Formats: sequence, structure tokens, C-alpha cells
Amino acid sequence: METLNVGILTCSDRCSSGEATDTSCLTIQECLEQNLTSLKVQSIKFVSKVLPDEKAQISQQLIDWSDEDKLHLILTTGGTGFAPRDVTPEATKDVLHKEAPGLVVAMISASLAVTPHAMLSRPAAGIRNKTLIVNLPGSPKAVKENLAAILAALPHAIALIQDVPKASTPQAHQASSSSS
Ligand code: MTE
Repeated sequence: METLNVGILTCSDRCSSGEATDTSCLTIQECLEQNLTSLKVQSIKFVSKVLPDEKAQISQQLIDWSDEDKLHLILTTGGTGFAPRDVTPEATKDVLHKEAPGLVVAMISASLAVTPHAMLSRPAAGIRNKTLIVNLPGSPKAVKENLAAILAALPHAIALIQDVPKASTPQAHQASSSSS
């Protein structure tokens, strides 16, 4: 794949109202830009949006980016915790066609090695049509640590979802696991 089309959705009442500045979106962009080789792409095209912690709005944005814009990957940041307004995982699960629990396990287990507070994140991950959707926590530190946990698996995951010829062959599976 030459260009990876990525959507970054910041879910935060405070960022959406202007009370706080969204720095996690930029952190995600930088992490991905710094890993073009691992991601096996030449460039990345980003779209981004900040929304309040409103389930219906978040779900609708995920639907628009998946079904209309056909993005390869959507990363959300924020709203995965235990606070009453944290609804990103619920908004995501509502629109997923298939869940991807392995990505969640990878993020949580890597994060638990860094902080016990990792158990307070409830991310969802999965596939809607041909788009991979992954919830990341809200802080830039957590974003970096969680992305690092799944980055190596993303190119193979996206190739399989896109039904890239030969992505499902035993050789492709082996090449992808030895390069990570
Ligand atoms: N995961 C990692 N790797 N590093 C972190 O610092 N912070 C945790 C957790 N996951 C953290 C992490 C904290 S403090 C919270 S409250 C939850 O993510 C939920 O964050 P969110 O509500 O911003 O999504």
C-alpha cells in the first residue's frame, strides 16, 4: 500500500469546548509518521476531528469515515475510562462488524507493564467494512505506549481487511510475524 488513509478522532468534552488543547491527535500523527517503514507505507494522509463525549456523534463519525471515506484506519483517543461521560468504547462497539480482542489484549498487557492504571482503560477495537478502528486512551503518554504495542501488527491487519492479494497466504503470515 502506498498511502495509508488514517482518521484520528479525539473524544473529549474539554477539547471540544476549547477548555483544553488536544495534543494527543498530534502525538498519534507523529508516532505514525515516524514509523512509515514498520507500517509498510510511503505516506500517510490524515483527517482529524474533535468531538464531545457524545455516543451518537462518535458513532456517526466512525460510520462516515468507514462507509463514505473508506479510511484504512481510525484511531480514537480519549473517553475509554471509567468516568460517567467516557463512552468511546460503547460508541465504537455499536458500529463494529467484527471485534478484534487481540489488539485490546496487546494494548492492555503492554500498558500494565508501565502502569497499573492501564486497567482503567476499556478500549474496543475491530473492523467496520474495510476499516480498522482502535480506541486509544486520552493522554499523549498513553497514546504512545498503546500505539507502540500494536504498531507492528497493523500493516498485516490492514492488508487482510483490504483483502490484498496474497495477504492471507502462509508465506505472508510468516513474513509479517518475522518482521515485527
Ligand atoms: N495506558 C498506558 N499505556 N499509559 C497510561 O499512562 N493511563 C491510564 C489508562 N491507560 C495510561 C494507560 C489512565 S490513568 C486512564 S484513566 C485510562 O487509560 C483511561 O483513559 P481515558 O479516559 O483518557 O481514555
